Amino acid sequence: MSAGGSAEAPRAVAVVTSGGDAPGMNAAIRAVVRAGCAHGLRMLGVRDGYSGLIDGNFVALGPREVGGIIERGGTMLGSSRCAAMKQPSGQEQAIGQLRRAGVDTLVVIGGDGSQRGAAALSRTGLRVIGVASTIDNDLAGTDISIGATTAVETALDAIDKLRVTASSHHRAFLVEVMGRNCGYLALTAGIAGGAEAIVIPEAEMASEEVAAAVRSAWERGKSHAIVVVAEGARNNAGVLLRHFEEHAQRLGFELRATRLGHVQRGGPPCAFDRVLATRLGAAAIEYAVAGWHGVLLGMQGHAVVPGTLHTVAARKPLDTTLLALADMLAA
Ligand code: ADP
Ligand code: F6P
Repeated sequence: MSAGGSAEAPRAVAVVTSGGDAPGMNAAIRAVVRAGCAHGLRMLGVRDGYSGLIDGNFVALGPREVGGIIERGGTMLGSSRCAAMKQPSGQEQAIGQLRRAGVDTLVVIGGDGSQRGAAALSRTGLRVIGVASTIDNDLAGTDISIGATTAVETALDAIDKLRVTASSHHRAFLVEVMGRNCGYLALTAGIAGGAEAIVIPEAEMASEEVAAAVRSAWERGKSHAIVVVAEGARNNAGVLLRHFEEHAQRLGFELRATRLGHVQRGGPPCAFDRVLATRLGAAAIEYAVAGWHGVLLGMQGHAVVPGTLHTVAARKPLDTTLLALADMLAA
């Protein structure tokens, strides 16, 4: 792979978490730092994402500094959205700060935006390794990213609880989940939660189609109807609610909405995310020590796979074939 190949061994590695935080980021930091220390490398953390990189906000990290975090959500280093990083001037400042701190390799834990930033830094000659982490699971180069599975579990927990109260009151509930422009969270939580309808950007449903799905659930003798909606769908919770309110009399039922929002980003990472983060984080050091850079590490099948940062720092399309299965089983 063109991305690999530098024979020079790393001496000092900085790790940064960027973009939306995701459960498992701490487990990844821990793995990067402890694997780096095991190789005798000097390890630094960057506080507050790319903003901290531009400001030179670094902290020395050893095995003890990353103790007691594997079970914690969020990121002990902090994160940010940083417009300055998109500009060449911001990237030059970041490179300057790393050079002054004696850092030769940067590990970037984050989603597609963060990895586009990583690719930009890599183009300047810095050795960069990306680790796929976003609850949205929309990052190319990996089947699954750190945090997505925990976020699905969180959404599912809410859906299960809402169904209980929906059944008691014979109500229809709409649950909006995150995912930016990607329907992965909604589709996965919707299937696992046995939703009556799933609305995602990749397969839009008109408001009247959603109404028909709810009405059909009542007609088939169901005591509840759950509609899971992705925030990125054109007919998101706000649009659907307005439609159902405006046409309440004609439709003959009302729809109550719950927007889960940032609750999906918090909470302790599930076992899968801890193991995924541990494997990808440790692999970042193994690849660096083996002379690789300019790669994004993701999981394909059961294997850690490096993809060229410049091509995989992009969004991947969602496989919507499971939507038909969900429809059939909502019988
Ligand atoms: P995520 O990494 O979770 O997808 P964002 O899309 O917000 O989150 O990206 C995180 C940060 O990555 C941005 O705030 C910005 O600093 C940086 N970034 C995003 N896109 C680019 C880009 N094209 N070039 C350089 N940096 C970028
Ligand atoms: O990328 C993760 C994510 O939680 C998306 O699902 C959501 O659209 C976005 O971040 C929210 O961003 P912020 O926390 O900056 O409002």
